[in-house]
Amino acid sequence: MLTPGLTFNEKGHLSVEGCDATELAAKYGTPLYVMNESLIRNNCRRYTAFIKDNFKNGSFPCYASKALSCLEIYRIMAEEQMGVDVVSGGELYTALTAEFPANRIFFHGNNKTPDELKMAVECGVGRIIVDNLTELHLLDEIAAEAGVIQKIGLRIKPGIEAHTHDYIRTGQIDSKFGFSIENGEALEAVKEAFECENLELCQLHCHIGSQIFDTQPFTDAAKVMLQFFDVIHKETGKWITELNLGGGLGASYTDSDSPLEIEEYLTPVAEAIKSTCEELGVPEPEFHIEPGRSIVGEAGTTLYTLGNIKEIKDIRTYISVDGGMSDNIRYALYQAEYTVLNASKAQGNVVDNITIAGKCCESGDLIQEGVSLIDPQVGDILAVLTTGAYNYSMASNYNRILRPAMIMVKDGNSRVIIQRESYNDLLNNDI
Ligand code: LLP
Repeated sequence: MLTPGLTFNEKGHLSVEGCDATELAAKYGTPLYVMNESLIRNNCRRYTAFIKDNFKNGSFPCYASKALSCLEIYRIMAEEQMGVDVVSGGELYTALTAEFPANRIFFHGNNKTPDELKMAVECGVGRIIVDNLTELHLLDEIAAEAGVIQKIGLRIKPGIEAHTHDYIRTGQIDSKFGFSIENGEALEAVKEAFECENLELCQLHCHIGSQIFDTQPFTDAAKVMLQFFDVIHKETGKWITELNLGGGLGASYTDSDSPLEIEEYLTPVAEAIKSTCEELGVPEPEFHIEPGRSIVGEAGTTLYTLGNIKEIKDIRTYISVDGGMSDNIRYALYQAEYTVLNASKAQGNVVDNITIAGKCCESGDLIQEGVSLIDPQVGDILAVLTTGAYNYSMASNYNRILRPAMIMVKDGNSRVIIQRESYNDLLNNDI
């Protein structure tokens, strides 16, 4: 499987948007995150165009920046007319530093601190998506002190089962996020929110999970949420005016993944919203979604240098690379599948059943098992595909390993967007 923008060139090297991967590795060093700018921008345009054409005026998609947060990505999102979703003071700070317009920022999180809430209110974020009653009342006080009416949403658990990994499933009642409809706490929260003098409740939000391949959970969630809009109206006489269905559209990691196209995913959602609104007499709300993985996932490729090959007779062959769980923890955490290629060779003998190991002092530090590679040799450049989402953003300095650089490639040109950490950076906060 090759993700969009990847090909093998006449030298038999992997090429990313016209840049030879082995030359990128030589120029910038490895490990290296390589991002395909055209693909990111094109994905944003597909979301914004579809939503503009098919949903109520005022609707827009918000990029879920937990997938990849850095100054350049917020600049690109601003240029592409996206909103963004942030989940911490750190993401908010990065977005504001990139001069992302605060009124298009939605602030999430199940335990925002008082300082984070103050920061969000003071900079004028568009919506704060409130997760629990403690937060609701604290935010009401913070808004009062700041002398503003803060627009908010409420995080709702619609009770939808999404078929994905347990750790990234969030719509069910047993989840730490939000208020459940089924046990009545969501309705209570709505009523309390309407009572808060310094808050304006305009949005209901749900996020049912991530790496989802069917439309059904999204259309089901839309219907459940709109039925709840109707219940709220009957109980309080007020209409909620915005529906936010969160993120969740999958990306392709291996040949066995076939994610929906952006339009294929949104068409049934638009239909479900229109028909449910008509059926129940609910005024069509503004629509928001928060795609992360489906915007940046396939746009990322990580390059490593092959350091050594350890053949354990009758057991397996380990190939160690110069990164690992410090730059991609997803196999260690979720047994996430990836496609791994020898970026230095398009042809040669294929060696099967390889385990790609990282350099951390941890047996579980594997990038992938059961990999087949063309004639792997020490010094070859290996490429791991679809690493644009939840790789850099989940990276760590475990073992004091340096976080890799990230470059953006476009039309055969490359530029650094995140510098490689230095040993000095590691000491920044040490006293
Ligand atoms: N909105 C909310 C409120 C979310 O919690 C998330 C993801 C998204 C949007 C974006 O979802 P996406 O479109 O990327 O599926 N670390 C995990 C993924 C965790 C997702 C958490 N929330 C992974 O590496 O697979």
